[in-house]
Amino acid sequence: MSEAFTGMWQAIHEVGRSGETGGYHRFVWTDADHTLREWFAGEAARRGMDCQVDRNGNQWAWWGDPAAGDAVVLGSHLDSVPDGGAYDGPLGVLSAFAAVDGVRAAGVQPLRPIAVVNFIDEEGARFGVPCAGSRLLTGSLSPERARALRDRDGHSMEEVLRAAGRDPRLLGRDDVLDAVGTFVELHVEQGRDLVDRDHAVGLGSEIWPHGRYRFEFTGQANHAGTTAMDERRDPMLTYAMTVLAANKKARLGGARATFGRVQVEPNGTNAIPARVQAWLDARAPAADDVAELVRAVQQQASERARRDGTRLTVTAESETGSTHFDPRLTARLARQLSDAPVIATGAGHDAGVLSQAGIPTAMLFVRNPTGVSHSPDEFAEHSDCLAGVQALTRVLGELTTAASEQGRAP
Ligand code: GLV
Ligand code: MN
Ligand code: MN
Repeated sequence: MSEAFTGMWQAIHEVGRSGETGGYHRFVWTDADHTLREWFAGEAARRGMDCQVDRNGNQWAWWGDPAAGDAVVLGSHLDSVPDGGAYDGPLGVLSAFAAVDGVRAAGVQPLRPIAVVNFIDEEGARFGVPCAGSRLLTGSLSPERARALRDRDGHSMEEVLRAAGRDPRLLGRDDVLDAVGTFVELHVEQGRDLVDRDHAVGLGSEIWPHGRYRFEFTGQANHAGTTAMDERRDPMLTYAMTVLAANKKARLGGARATFGRVQVEPNGTNAIPARVQAWLDARAPAADDVAELVRAVQQQASERARRDGTRLTVTAESETGSTHFDPRLTARLARQLSDAPVIATGAGHDAGVLSQAGIPTAMLFVRNPTGVSHSPDEFAEHSDCLAGVQALTRVLGELTTAASEQGRAP
């Protein structure tokens, strides 16, 4: 098991990796993504698994016939945020293949089909909407909206799909979803709960509600040297005050608010900007708290815009309600895993999208000693990764040979 896992890890280690920072740039339908997709298809072929691509580009490697239904599906994603870590996503896909190897080596005869899935565009780093592949699959992102999304260079998803040899008209809910009986996603932990609890592997209880909001501040471009300070209509100033307001509001309310992406036009050192676009990532334990956070930040930003002589528009680009993973399934897996701790997360996952679509879903987390994620500092010890594979193998063996998780929500 260890050798196969290490081999897979080495095979993709350099794909999309920056020589400068060591971070990954694996965005949907780029060269790095194509290479990873080929790697996935190769791993499926090596195991005699039938690799199918759904309407949205998600890859499914099947052991058994999906038409039999009630499949146990494991997997995650292979894309990354800009300059992301090595583990967020790939750890779940590699571990899924390794778990298939593990149950086969143990001579398990599955009672239902098994699949490993690579969900496309989980981070939404290119087109802005996270979990685009699983949202399209389940119907929670409309194909019309997806086709019209644009990347930073102004290319629409429709154009990018065509260039990648895909038919954008195919996007939408896919029947493969009907074959999925249970979904389990293993993921590197993006915090330090497991470090504090001294466990290599844990289970997920819930995902905090979260959303992404585009704040567009407009003002008047002008000369940096000749425009008096009180004659300016500077959108950067309104933006700066908005960042401070969001940070304060989140700290006081036990929520999270982040402006991690900003685009300035014309972006000259000696010119007051005409336009600043910035993206607020907002998260909190309850959906009402996220809504209140965004409302309060928008109100303070609008008040500040009036003082600065600038204008503000806010657009919600994605919103996700709270997700509670299947408690019965999670309790069952916790027993399998010697009472692994059950922890909540503020990070979004395809598992959350499938859970919201009514599929019995669980998550496994692997300890991350740095607690850092979405950064090259993201880390997991090799021995903890192997503990994760072992746990996933046990879970897969149990789920494919014992009573099924049938009885999804309608
Ligand atoms: C995905 O990792 C997210 O939580 O943004
Ligand atoms: Mn991520
Ligand atoms: Mn992830």
